[in-house]
Amino acid sequence: MRLRNKPWAAGLIAAHPSMILVNPENIAGNWQARFAKEQPLYIEVGSGKGQFITQMAQKYPDRNFIAVEIQESAIAVILQKQVELKLPNLQLLLGNGAALTTFFAENEVAGVYLNFSDPWPKKRHEKRRLTYKSFLAEYQQIMQPTGYLRFKTDNQGLFEYSLMSLNAYGMVFDDISLDLHNSELAKDNILTEYEEKFSKRGQVIYRLEAHYK
Ligand SMILES: C[S@@+](CC[C@H](N)C(=O)[O-])C[C@H]1O[C@@H](n2cnc3c(N)ncnc32)[C@H](O)[C@@H]1O
Repeated sequence: MRLRNKPWAAGLIAAHPSMILVNPENIAGNWQARFAKEQPLYIEVGSGKGQFITQMAQKYPDRNFIAVEIQESAIAVILQKQVELKLPNLQLLLGNGAALTTFFAENEVAGVYLNFSDPWPKKRHEKRRLTYKSFLAEYQQIMQPTGYLRFKTDNQGLFEYSLMSLNAYGMVFDDISLDLHNSELAKDNILTEYEEKFSKRGQVIYRLEAHYK
């Protein structure tokens, strides 16, 4: 997903340093100080316009959340929402998910969410998929031993690839759903923008949850 350039984005980001950090170099290990309360920290990599992460932060006030997004124009839309909502348990990070180990310390994160990640269907782009082994290694390094990875997508090819990639990495599957919206997890499920769009078109939503051994 590429959003149209938003000329106001950089100014909005610069005006709210308490809500958003841009490629932070010295924050690893100290994220809790940016929240109202110290509590388990969950990140979403590739948050898009932030529907999921803002609703998660509202639904679970006893958890802290960070939206990690590589596109300035997308994270600026989340920031607009956060300027209104002022959620004390939500922070934003403009940066590349491939650099998570520079942004977070070991064991700093309790869980990682990936939602409707770009599928990068061409084999030569495999390394860009957020479930490629180099990303799995990043999540592992920053995640607590009790942590989990949760992934949703409408893309069958990316889902199958991810099952194989996580399995090859040695991860343990806690749950696999081939039709999330018709499963018992549906009632607690928070929809992302993409999820809403694709499920309205009648597409099935896949979900997996896994942890590291
Ligand atoms: C297809 S959109 C899905 C957005 C949202 N999660 C949803 O479900 O509606 C994928 C998002 O991931 C972001 N993204 C892709 N690669 C990324 C990376 N390496 N690090 C951080 N964000 C990334 C893109 O900029 C885009 O906003």
